[in-house]
Amino acid sequence: MRTDSSSFDGVLSIEPDHDDDAQIALWTLYELHYRGFDDIDDSLEWQPELLQVRRALEQVFETRLRERFDPPDVTTPFADSFFDYVANHDGRSLAAFVHRDADADQVRELLSVRTIYHLKESDPSAWLVPRLSVAPQAALMELQYDEYGAGDPNALHAHLFARGLEACGLRSEYGAYIDDVPCEVLEQNNAMSMFGLHRRLRGAALGHLAAFEATSSLPSRRMSQGLHRLGFPEEMIRYYDEHVEADAVHEQLAVRVVCGTLLDAEPALAGDVFFGAFTCLDLEDRFAGAMLEGWAA
Ligand SMILES: [Fe+2]
Ligand SMILES: [Fe+2]
Repeated sequence: MRTDSSSFDGVLSIEPDHDDDAQIALWTLYELHYRGFDDIDDSLEWQPELLQVRRALEQVFETRLRERFDPPDVTTPFADSFFDYVANHDGRSLAAFVHRDADADQVRELLSVRTIYHLKESDPSAWLVPRLSVAPQAALMELQYDEYGAGDPNALHAHLFARGLEACGLRSEYGAYIDDVPCEVLEQNNAMSMFGLHRRLRGAALGHLAAFEATSSLPSRRMSQGLHRLGFPEEMIRYYDEHVEADAVHEQLAVRVVCGTLLDAEPALAGDVFFGAFTCLDLEDRFAGAMLEGWAA
């Protein structure tokens, strides 16, 4: 990443060397809003020049994500349209590969790159809470309450995943595998952070959440069965078993209540709800494609 702070008007100009570079920079800037870094001053979270860099990177990223999206015709009630939209999306499934074909090393690699999301699961959606009106806010909090363990630290989903990693002999520290993940993982995480951190993108954030929940229960069952097949520890299997049941409920809650009541109050956000859903599905396809190609699967 080349920066030039001497450019006119004092505007910091940035020029990523390539897309990986832009995504690494964005991920790093977003992390200042989550856990930060041991050797980085916390006050940089709101440093104007860094926010300026972040904004420039986000504009390129958001434009690219929107260019990929083809808005659907919505003619039926929202929830029906949404579930149809998700069901009709056709992409390659990592969970199906784990279920039947993956070997233990491939699964360990997959678990390690999934840490970037699963160890902060639900955090990007937490930014949304103060940005919603009463009905979607209450529904989102009902969903988040489960994600954060319903008052029990041992049931907090990100913590369940960390315990599963430890039982597998993998590292459970936040960000431990960041240097090993493909660019597609950074894009997935950056999209969630960008949607969550911009109030104007609340429709996209909740559409992303709804699509994520609506595509979790069955793949979690496949992951669980694949982990059983390969003899993985019970602690990791428990993480996926938890999501088989929880996300069967969460998908209804996220689509019908969170997004449904959001759109009752703000129907103009419908396009962004589908944009967020598409982005969730499309980025998972790209990630799955990169992993499967890497394995020549
Ligand atoms: Fe979860
Ligand atoms: Fe969930």
